[in-house]
Amino acid sequence: MNPAWTIENYLEVKNNRLHINGVSATALAEQCGTPLFVFSETRIRHNIERLKRAERAIDCPLKICYAAKANSNMAILRAVKDAGGDLEVNSGGELFKALKIGFKPEQIIFNGTSKTKTELEEAIEAGIYAIQADSFYEIELIEIVAQRLNKRANVSLRLVPEIESDTLHGLQTALLTSKFGMMPDEALTAFRRWKSDDKFLNLCGIHLHIGSQNPKSESYSEALQTLFENLREINAAGHRLSHLNLGGGFPVNYLRDQSNAGDLSAAQRDFFAAELEPETVLREAWKVVKQSAAEAKIAHLLGNIELLIEPGRSVIGDAGVCLTTVRNRKERPVENGNWKMEIGKLENSESTTQNLKSEIQNDVWLLTDAGFNILLSMETYKWYYHLVSAERAGEAHATKYKLAGPLCDGGDVYFDIEGQNRLPDYRLLPENVEPNEVLALLNCGAYSIAQMFQYNGRQLPAIVLLQENGEVELIRKRDSYEDLLINDVW
Ligand SMILES: Cc1ncc(COP(=O)(O)O)c(C=O)c1O
Repeated sequence: MNPAWTIENYLEVKNNRLHINGVSATALAEQCGTPLFVFSETRIRHNIERLKRAERAIDCPLKICYAAKANSNMAILRAVKDAGGDLEVNSGGELFKALKIGFKPEQIIFNGTSKTKTELEEAIEAGIYAIQADSFYEIELIEIVAQRLNKRANVSLRLVPEIESDTLHGLQTALLTSKFGMMPDEALTAFRRWKSDDKFLNLCGIHLHIGSQNPKSESYSEALQTLFENLREINAAGHRLSHLNLGGGFPVNYLRDQSNAGDLSAAQRDFFAAELEPETVLREAWKVVKQSAAEAKIAHLLGNIELLIEPGRSVIGDAGVCLTTVRNRKERPVENGNWKMEIGKLENSESTTQNLKSEIQNDVWLLTDAGFNILLSMETYKWYYHLVSAERAGEAHATKYKLAGPLCDGGDVYFDIEGQNRLPDYRLLPENVEPNEVLALLNCGAYSIAQMFQYNGRQLPAIVLLQENGEVELIRKRDSYEDLLINDVW
């Protein structure tokens, strides 16, 4: 029987080895070295197609703006563009990358809490679909820049409507206690101040984003309903909006294989195993809104609306695998190396000092070459990435190991060290894993390489993209030692 983590025609076990889109993961590791990120173009397309299907569930066009923050490698952006996605950017840098790879201005929206005048200038000059204003102050700033350029800026207002989602606290973005957006009252004041015929500001939409890895469909219904209620008031203030933006946050199921999830708290398990079908989510949400529009006899307000979503994780999360090699192995007594405790336990036994060591149960520690400098969320959010042996993917993964990365921090580990059951206590792999065995961390495509850094002088990894035509494309070179110096001045 196939392990639960396999996905037909994508992640498979052949000859006991992990294959990604038919390509042997160990062959890739041998060819390119590790750590190595492997992305699948087919999977990206599959994920975008899945999101596009959601358009069938609503009565208006759906614009899918991939959230570049999840992964803005140029070839990944190209793959998203080729698959028919539009783009959400979060800085002048991402805007630059978007335009450079060939997204048209009308395909781009620009989020962010702290945009500079220069960034606004670039966005207005380019004539993008919408700048998502994050505060009243920022709308005024956009107006000043637009006046100077003598151009009309398309602006959408980001709301914080106090919608709670069952995601991690740090991933909540629609609460008044968060740093994002503006209160609905402020937005309404803005719509009253800048009329629909304003020369420099085209206030054309409203936006919210409830958070990332949202496990519940109801949060989206509540969010769309909130947008609609605001739309109604904005309409009464004399504006006809052209779009509503529901943000991102569709989850990835990180626990398709639950074999190593027993130690996780129930809440953590539900969170990582969240699974929502975008089409179902939007159907539910649209139904709620349509009903209230019909009851209030204002269904026409939905007539010319385009609905935007900003999915990041659900496009790229499961399209990326991180290959890593075991570089070191050691044995330590259980209980975090607390010898004294173990010795204490044995004091009343018949043990002699000589056989003490053999009686103490040891943990086997495996030290890999993939640390939190390339998988930051494993450290910050204690994110669970399922681990398999790429060389022995078909064997039983039932032996417990303590897995850790190469960095000089005690927190650079793949298991729970805080006693909070946010990660498993051990990682499960086949028996007798030794140095040089190649392992694979699954679902690593989102918020990984987008956040990587050269801590400990570690060269950032190479990345390959498995193209739809079967070719293996190198889409990021591994850093050289020289790259570690590139911007240092001395
Ligand atoms: C404004 C905004 N839109 C979209 C996203 C993408 O979210 P996700 O990757 O969960 O789909 C984020 C991420 O936090 C965001 O802040």
